Order: sequence, then structure tokens, then C-alpha cells
Amino acid sequence: LKRIRIDASKSYTVAVGSGCVAELGRELKAVAETARVMIVSDDNVYPLYGEKVRKVLETAGYTASQFVFPHGEAHKNLDTYGLLLEQLCAENYSRSDLILALGGGVTGDLAGFAAATYQRGIRFVQLPTTLLAAVDASVGGKTAVDLKGGKNQVGAFCQPSLVLCDTELLSTLPDTEFRAGMAEVIKYGAIGDSELFKLLENTDMETLRKGGDNQLLEAVIARCVEQKKQFVQNDEFDTGSRMLLNFGHTFGHGIEAASGFRVPHGYAVAAGMCIISRAAETRGLCGRETRRRIEALTEKYGLPTGTEFTGEQMLPYIASDKKVSGRQVKLVVTDRIGHAGLVPVNVAELSEWLKDGGVK
Ligand code: GLY
Repeated sequence: LKRIRIDASKSYTVAVGSGCVAELGRELKAVAETARVMIVSDDNVYPLYGEKVRKVLETAGYTASQFVFPHGEAHKNLDTYGLLLEQLCAENYSRSDLILALGGGVTGDLAGFAAATYQRGIRFVQLPTTLLAAVDASVGGKTAVDLKGGKNQVGAFCQPSLVLCDTELLSTLPDTEFRAGMAEVIKYGAIGDSELFKLLENTDMETLRKGGDNQLLEAVIARCVEQKKQFVQNDEFDTGSRMLLNFGHTFGHGIEAASGFRVPHGYAVAAGMCIISRAAETRGLCGRETRRRIEALTEKYGLPTGTEFTGEQMLPYIASDKKVSGRQVKLVVTDRIGHAGLVPVNVAELSEWLKDGGVK
């Protein structure tokens, strides 16, 4: 079991290991000696792992109940959030109790936001079941639900009390979901870890996905979490350096939104990283070889390096993004593998950037 300690406004452990759900009871003791636990999960994940988690909890002396909602981003909304809060209230959950998010980013965001706000805040733990949640969403305390007007438009910064990442739970992920998570892993390599980037160049999806005691996958996830830890500790509330984690995300968000969220987040981010790297290369802000390696690695993991959507289709969503302040947006550019910076750009110049990035 690899253990990473995060010291933000709250300190907590991220534990990564194969089969570590079995340790949940022991790990939880450090967070809450006794508590009731509301397992929050979707209708894809609960049937796979819900009862297993419940048994582990009950064996450790906890009482558990569950809130299972229909899977998908479309359900990360105020209605589902309201239903979860009402269930917590109906079952008399109190501030000494816990919410446990069992699932991917949608589940973690929803459960975390409920935990941030129910009775002005109760504790929550994250058991990520997607690669994307394992390396990104479950760590760092960003919680939210979507509004009709946009993704993650209402939320709170609220750190979990524990993150337990069991790599065995990732074994049932469809390839497309695993690839989507790989986009974020590639991102970590590009912006801050050239060794990780090289490691990804020298391995492949099959090796990373291999079942059983997969130490390589464990090591890769831990490496990403180690990097995220630095960003979260230095800039928990996302006003400066944490924004570097948005590499590929600004243009990626344009693709995701233009597609009506049919293009998965990770696929959109992958294309976004390549688009911005091409545009940055034409401005002398990204080396030719750096751009080439980002594109090659993206392709190697079966992710898109561009998009069918036009700049015109993407721009309205990019311009209304949370990342835009005033008429300016700070774009993340990887200038060399393992190093990135923020480039302030006027919203009016974005269409040129997209064009130079190969967007029609
Ligand atoms: N997913 C980016 C962040 O947590 O800041």
C-alpha cells in the first residue's frame, strides 16, 4: 500500500494499492472511530462493488446505508443532490457520520458537495473506481454539481478525510474509460514529470491494464497523486499554480460542451492538449519536439489529437468558462516536457489560437 499524506486546510491520506478495499475498516478508524456511513454510488458501480464495501464496513463495526443514482454526468445535478440530502436527513444522519463516495468523478463530485453542505459539512471519504477519479477528481477537494447553464457551476472546496484507491476496482473499467483517465496521466507527465512521461512512452495500455498485483499501475497512480498533492498544498483554492492542472482543459471544455458532453472529458482534454501545443509551437512557446511527443503519446494511448468541431462551435463555451476572468483567459502551455506555464490571452485572440492548433 502506497500512502500519500496531503496537508491542505485539512490533512488526509491517499492510500493506493491492489485489494486495499479490504483495509477500509482499519483506515476508517483513524477518521471516525464509530459512524454511520452513507455509501453514494451509481447504478453501474453499486452492483459491482457496493455490497463488498458494505460488508467490509459492517465487519469493522460501522452501520451503512446507500444512495444509488442513475449513472452519467446528466445526473450530477441539483435534483440528485437534493434527493441525497433528503435521504441523509430522513435517515437522521448527523455531523458525526460519514459519506462514502464509491465511483468515478461524477459520484465523487456529487457526494463531496453533499458532504460539504449537509448540516454545514460532514466528513466524506473517496473510493475512486475510475482511473480519472483515482489520479485527479478524488484528490484535492473540488466538489460540485452542474447547472443547466454549465458544468460544475455550483460547488465547494471541501477536502475528503480519506481517499482509498484500490487498483482492483479499476479492472472492470471499459477501455474507453481507462483511456479517458490516461489523458490526465499524460497531462501530469507533460506539465510536471518528465520521468513519468518517458515511462508512458516506454510502456503501453495493455501492460498498464494487466490484472492481478499491478505494481506499475499503482506506481503511476501514486506518482500522479504525488504531483497533485504539490498543486493542492501550494494553491488549494485554485487562484494560481493549481491552474496548471488545466493543461488541455480550456479547449477540451469547448469540445466537450460543443458535443453536448458526448465526447468524454478525458478524450476532450487529450485533443485540447494537442491543439494548444500546436498553437503554442507556432508562437514559439512550445518546442517542436515537445509538441511532437505530446501528440505521439496521445495517439499511442488511443486518444484523439484533434476535433471535428469547429472553432465557431467551441468558442462560445470557451469564452463563458469559469477560467475566463474579464476578457482574459490564462491558457496552460507546456513549453518542454515536465514543465508548464500560464499564458494570458485575450478572449478575442482565441479563435486564432484554435486555428493555429488545427481546429477548422
Ligand atoms: N482537476 C483539476 C483540479 O483539481 O484542480
